[in-house]
Amino acid sequence: MILIRQGALVSAGGVQRADILIAGEQIAAVAASIRDEDAATLRAAQGRHDETLHTLDAAGLLIFPGLIDVHVHTREPGAEHKEDWHSATCAAVAGGVTTVLAMPNTSPAVTDASSFAHALALAQRKAVCDFGLYLGATNDNAGLAEHMPRLGECGLKMYMGSSTGDLLVQDFEPQYEHFARYPHDRVIAVHAEHEPAVQYFARRGVRRPPICAELETARAITLARHCRRPVHICHLSTRREIELVREAKSGGARVTCEATPHHLFLTLDYEVQAQMPAGLRTHLPACYAMNPPLRELVDLNALWDNLDVIDCIATDHAPHSLDEKRSARPPSGVPGLETLLPLLLTAANPPDGPARLSLPDIARLCCEGPARVFGLRRKGTIAPGYDADLCLVDPTATWTIGDRPLFSKCGWTPFAGWRVRGAVSHTFVRGRLVFDGRAVVAPMGSGRHVSPDA
Ligand code: DOR
Ligand code: ZN
Repeated sequence: MILIRQGALVSAGGVQRADILIAGEQIAAVAASIRDEDAATLRAAQGRHDETLHTLDAAGLLIFPGLIDVHVHTREPGAEHKEDWHSATCAAVAGGVTTVLAMPNTSPAVTDASSFAHALALAQRKAVCDFGLYLGATNDNAGLAEHMPRLGECGLKMYMGSSTGDLLVQDFEPQYEHFARYPHDRVIAVHAEHEPAVQYFARRGVRRPPICAELETARAITLARHCRRPVHICHLSTRREIELVREAKSGGARVTCEATPHHLFLTLDYEVQAQMPAGLRTHLPACYAMNPPLRELVDLNALWDNLDVIDCIATDHAPHSLDEKRSARPPSGVPGLETLLPLLLTAANPPDGPARLSLPDIARLCCEGPARVFGLRRKGTIAPGYDADLCLVDPTATWTIGDRPLFSKCGWTPFAGWRVRGAVSHTFVRGRLVFDGRAVVAPMGSGRHVSPDA
């Protein structure tokens, strides 16, 4: 049993000093003060007589529910030189993330029972945090996704526009089939960029302008509304998409959405980067290429100004090696798991200027919102009966991103050189310490599969 004393617990509702008692994998009690005798009574009641009580003094630390990142590319199977299940989940727990939902654009892609079983086996062997797996939509697996006995997938991922890998469902018919037939009690998460527009502009040397995302986000919302089913819009990047989602939500459509840290902190015209330390500006432009791309400052501000419409902040952790990024045809995507929380904590407590969000906003967007959208009933909240997934943070630690080695195999970050405030000091997954502020201390394979079915 573990008694964590006097941390400042952060929830969407506020920040409150409290003790947390962990018994086995779950939170047993949360109270202003839990005495050793109370813990002993509970230990006896639970038949845990031979367990010792470990105490951790968390005075001065913030305690978040373990973060849930609903958009992660772990790259395994097929591109283990970029990342694998172990390195991706080490990066996760170093960033305070205790559950990752993994994208299906691997090689082979996860699109049926056997590729799902293969990906699941790899994850079970290597993950150090909990994980869910998406099933990938294809032009001809709508029937399968509908009728297959439940695989335990966290949702269906549909690439309505092309990106890394070969998953693409761009035509109305297969899109509609999926929207109509995929079980309505779970989410279709969409990469919404209109492929004909992407191709049209590519032929003219323009990379995925806002109209691409706006057209397809409007289409995804319309499909969801007609089929009366939930849709989750991944990586919202433009002001117009925010308006579309706000309007859809207020009209009662079952629409949720996420924003990424790169769209919240970086802009296309490098305006934000120009204010960064010199070291960063020497980074390759290709390191800032992702789908959808970075946008204008008005779009960045629209995301921050409409956080109430956003359900999740998700990293779209998409590592590629530096060699690949330096090549003639650099792939799109940036890593994000290790920098998500420090960036948000700094935005909540900036050295100068007004805060962009509050600590409770972070708990809503990175913990409670993701658990709600994806139906992860034991995750995202610090309360009795929930999994003891916790992220302890020293809010006073100031450090520079890139000064310490990253756990991600790709070894680089678009935020190198950024001075941030707030460092993860401990990460617990189901009551087990997995990261101690410096090293990952959990054995490979200690992560567990989670799904809305469980
Ligand atoms: O930039 C991106 N990279 N966007 C995506 O949609 C896919 C991702 C990847 O897998 O590399
Ligand atoms: Zn992605």
